Amino acid sequence: MLGKARRPRGAAPLNCGEPEPVTDKRIVLIIGGGIAAYKCLDLIRRLKERRVRVRAVLTRAGEQFVTPLSVGALTNEPVFTNLFDLDAEREIGHIRLSREADLIVVAPATADLIAKMAGGHADDLASTVLMATDKPVLVAPAMNPRMWLHPATQRNVAQLRADGIRVLEPAVGEMAERGEAGAGRLPEVPELLAAIESMLAAAGASVATTPAGHSARPLAGLHVLITSGPTHEPIDPVRYIANRSSGKQGHAVAAAAVKAGARVTLVSGPVALPDPAGVDVMHVETAAEMLDAVREALPADIGIFAAAVADWRVANAEGEKIKKTASARTPTLSLVENPDILKTIATPKAGRPRLVIGFAAETENVTEYAKKKLKSKGADWIVANDVSPETGVMGGDRNAIHIVSAEGVESWPDMSKTEVAERLVARIAAHVANRRPEAAQ
Ligand code: C5P
Repeated sequence: MLGKARRPRGAAPLNCGEPEPVTDKRIVLIIGGGIAAYKCLDLIRRLKERRVRVRAVLTRAGEQFVTPLSVGALTNEPVFTNLFDLDAEREIGHIRLSREADLIVVAPATADLIAKMAGGHADDLASTVLMATDKPVLVAPAMNPRMWLHPATQRNVAQLRADGIRVLEPAVGEMAERGEAGAGRLPEVPELLAAIESMLAAAGASVATTPAGHSARPLAGLHVLITSGPTHEPIDPVRYIANRSSGKQGHAVAAAAVKAGARVTLVSGPVALPDPAGVDVMHVETAAEMLDAVREALPADIGIFAAAVADWRVANAEGEKIKKTASARTPTLSLVENPDILKTIATPKAGRPRLVIGFAAETENVTEYAKKKLKSKGADWIVANDVSPETGVMGGDRNAIHIVSAEGVESWPDMSKTEVAERLVARIAAHVANRRPEAAQ
């Protein structure tokens, strides 16, 4: 299969002997047909800022939404389409195109493109590149929610994942079609960037800081303070009150924040997890110790309170093990309220982190309770999730969250806790960037 390369004005041919631009990494971006294709233009800009070289392939449907001219003007490279062109093939064939990349990104990936990939079709340039590649592939689906939920699409996505392809969950929200809403939106550019950067890093390469000073480590220079895990409240030296929190989500957020370049302090309750690499970890047991550690770790730019702090502690905790003897009465535990760490830190005052994020684990009315919590705690965002036993979230590896803020509620579909963490950190980075002076562009 041959591909026609359309060269933007001023772009250097790939093999004309001119010096190649100074780049670190190379991506082939396959742009499918969908209204979200316009987001690829911004994605290309952001990748170029990070000195990632982008070669774009436009599917026939993709060409209906963005033009080769606009894509080429941003990539400063020839744009490959599906038209037969012997010159282009001689210049760079589909095999070279797929092999000379560190990563292939398909965005937006339509239901049709996903089906072709799952079926192993190779009847146009995009599908041929995908069949010919031995490089990691990232797929960012975007389609109507019914098409996304269709058993055929879900089957195809499961097949791609089984084949080792990373398929992002589409974002939830309004569709371009009037009155349509649900899962099917292309994830926002910061989330696409986070996924691309993590895949490039996994492939053994970090993305460079751009000459313009834009950083692929968007939280560089910032201190992120995170609480994670349960607390244990002693009854006596050997017994305690606890909860089922595993710390997996909080620890994953810490790891993602380090990857994004932040200095990270993790205040962790007792968990069965290793300390995430590159994180300063303070181990605590009780809520009171957690509050002390948080105060010690401040100041921070961003505070993320993911710990499942026990609401109460035992007022009359014994210094010695309580003995069960025939004559002794069954002990009565008297409880007192623990300090609310999130509320304490979120209270407006000098030194408050500029972004304070709380978590809300609920078993019913998840977003309603989260909205109330946003106000009562004074947090900027509440990340809410349903921890009913049937969800398997507590202790499990997957999560489905709602981000509740003054702007409203954003619901994300079910995904791995690692992906939740990466996307949340990308979201935080975008929020912080919007408030940095250099973001004005
Ligand atoms: O009130 P609730 O426990 O549902 O609120 C959950 C949020 O508050 C979480 O972010 C949790 O880390 C935080 N929290 C806290 N200190 C407490 C109780 C909850 O920081 N004592």
